[in-house]
Amino acid sequence: MANPRVFVTRIIPDAGLKVVLEQCDAEVWPEELPPPYEVLLQKVKGCDGLLSLLTDRINPQLMDAAPHLRVISQMAVGFDNVDAKAATERGIPVGNTPGVLTDTTADFAFTLLMAAARRVVEGMDYVRAGKWKTWGPTLLLGQDIHHATLGLIGFGRIGQGMARRASGFDMRVLYYDVYRREDLEKSMGVVYADLDTLLRESDFVSLHTDLNPQTRHIINDDAFAKMKPSAILINSARGPIVDPDALYRALRDGKIAGAGLDVTEPEPLPASSPLLSLPNCLIVPHIASSSVKTRGRMAEMAASNLIAGLRGERLPYCANPEVYERGNLRGG
Ligand code: GLV
Repeated sequence: MANPRVFVTRIIPDAGLKVVLEQCDAEVWPEELPPPYEVLLQKVKGCDGLLSLLTDRINPQLMDAAPHLRVISQMAVGFDNVDAKAATERGIPVGNTPGVLTDTTADFAFTLLMAAARRVVEGMDYVRAGKWKTWGPTLLLGQDIHHATLGLIGFGRIGQGMARRASGFDMRVLYYDVYRREDLEKSMGVVYADLDTLLRESDFVSLHTDLNPQTRHIINDDAFAKMKPSAILINSARGPIVDPDALYRALRDGKIAGAGLDVTEPEPLPASSPLLSLPNCLIVPHIASSSVKTRGRMAEMAASNLIAGLRGERLPYCANPEVYERGNLRGG
């Protein structure tokens, strides 16, 4: 039997790509930028499988343009770019890559927290600009991390990873989540707080929720008004959880002291964004899971999800498991 046809929307690490190329008739989009939507629509037409990234828009039209498509495997834990409900209705399992990136992402969120708190990038810029003339008693004063209060919005795997790291810095940890985790409160030494209390009491507010209609712009003018003027916002989750105009105003007007962002709205952030004019806003290009090991493991997981779906087997990591309850699996 001929190998299944698949489209891979970018060159992914070899650990996963090799498997896909061995077992499938695969076309891999070779460019640095993602395929434009219209191109993707053409490419998936005759495909049995799609290996996607968070930069691809996978909507119902695209699923309908590809009548043989029987698996969408996304190389990311977040999948807000995929209409998973539409995929379920069409009997298409969607794969994602949870777990493997938890610690790497939490490491990086904590890195952002520390870098923003202690003004590391501003310090580097200062030295590079030749401004370092002497030791300064008030030079680049930052915020203490140890014994500070960390507020986690979202207490899933990555939020819990942040709490574990924070305990090494003697931080007090508050969390807010739609699911209260009383089981973890004692063992991890974290305290549940409603959103208002968390915003008011935290020295660092770090976002670890997925993006959904309830979390879109949850950090807005109102939220900034409640935060301490010394507070620092960390976002390594999804850009649109924060209203970018409100963030600009808050940083410009000293409503909060700083921000460390791995994700932005829009993404990529244009060089003309007013946020880039602010020294207290540290921004990096969505790299929290970007370690050699983790991206390799994510590629492997995405490949195994893809191959399982093509074989009609249950995906090892499925983002829409309800698809298996409906008895309408495409190609099933
Ligand atoms: C990265 O942002 C991911 O969702 O894996």
